Amino acid sequence: MQLMEKVVSLCKRRGFVYQNSEIYGGNQGFYDFGPLGVEMKNNLKQLWWKWMTVDHENIVGIDGAIITHPKVWEASGHVKSFTDPLVECKNCHHRFKQDDLTENKCPQCGGELSEPKNYNILMQTELGVIEGEKTKAYLRGEACQTIYLDYENVLNSTRIKIPFGICQIGKAFRNEVTPGNFLFRQREFEQWDLQWFCRPEEMEKWFEFWKEERMGWYKNLFTHPENLVFYQHEKLAHYAKKAFDIHYSTSPFDGKEMEGIHWRGDWDLSRHGEYSGKDLSYTDPGTKENFIPNIVETSGGVDRAFLFLLIDAYCEEGERIFLKLNPKVAPYKVAIFPLLANKPDIIQKAKEIYDNLKVNFRVAWDDRGNIGKRYYSQDEIGTPWCVTVDFTTLQDNTVTVRDRDTAKQERVYVDNLNNFFQELLR
Ligand code: GAP
Repeated sequence: MQLMEKVVSLCKRRGFVYQNSEIYGGNQGFYDFGPLGVEMKNNLKQLWWKWMTVDHENIVGIDGAIITHPKVWEASGHVKSFTDPLVECKNCHHRFKQDDLTENKCPQCGGELSEPKNYNILMQTELGVIEGEKTKAYLRGEACQTIYLDYENVLNSTRIKIPFGICQIGKAFRNEVTPGNFLFRQREFEQWDLQWFCRPEEMEKWFEFWKEERMGWYKNLFTHPENLVFYQHEKLAHYAKKAFDIHYSTSPFDGKEMEGIHWRGDWDLSRHGEYSGKDLSYTDPGTKENFIPNIVETSGGVDRAFLFLLIDAYCEEGERIFLKLNPKVAPYKVAIFPLLANKPDIIQKAKEIYDNLKVNFRVAWDDRGNIGKRYYSQDEIGTPWCVTVDFTTLQDNTVTVRDRDTAKQERVYVDNLNNFFQELLR
């Protein structure tokens, strides 16, 4: 089995990710996150949010609506330019994204391909309840547009001054013509975006700064940081003057993007100023200089980071499958095992430890089968530490802590456990 198939199978088996509407045969391009997936995704988003808003000065967050005024998407250029050129095989009628093809023959049957046609991938909906009076609207095709819409409100309601950032984590929707590769290309997905507003003459400096910052953040998170590489775009999106991707480059995702760092310049605020009739320029409170702020964007896919982290973490050692996830990302930090499920003293002690640790950490409880099986089960979902409560615990108040990656065990005083794990997680 290929690595990707193994990861997909583990995701379903252990409750990370399910195909959406599976009992109806599935819903292409849509996925649901299960009990472990939602924990891991929340951990990831919290890490991103803390790093953006707490660890960087002058960045605030918003949480904007998914549906905006329809004019937003005209101003942004998406109604006109958010297209995917597609070609169709004249023989087997399969459709392909032109960008994905390396040859002029159908990859399915070798047949002749049609001329490319453009399809707009904005997802439409309707507002209103009376037939004939409904108005067309769009589910946002990129999360960042709400940041531009709220830019003036943020300026007026906070004491923030240029250069500053507004960040957001939120859903985006695209009618992808060829959704696929599991979470990689979906029709509904989540983005984490920073829009950094600065003076036009400082764009070069901030573009380089954010490029390095974002790469550094991912490198700290991944087990194989050497797989993270930059890729410079030559073909640019309609708004971009310069663009770099961060790729997690490993099969089957060589050359596939996880995050984009885009030089958006004054495109967004100028266009929204023009279409809304509002002056979105900025006046420097000191010098009184007036200008349209320029924007550096860092826009990443939460689901893609989630998928790449699982691929990055997947390990096999003989029978043992384990996810070498960064402990900060792992769904559970600690699992508590009472050695024997039929010894009330041991169960009671283990329960006390569980209750104590769960105040600070996401903790799992397992009293089924033998200890070896329990270790395997936690390894497979990436739990970094397992705590076994045994007869010795009742005598000297110590437990065995076993490490997921090395399988090494050590005895730790129960009273020190909280500090012990806090320290390891720091
Ligand atoms: N605001 C800029 C923007 O949306 P993008 O490169 O189109 O730029 C940013 O998207 C990120 O969103 C990508 O790097 C990718 O991680 C994620 N993304 C884009 N389309 C996606 C899809 N169909 N499924 C999952 N993630 C996607």
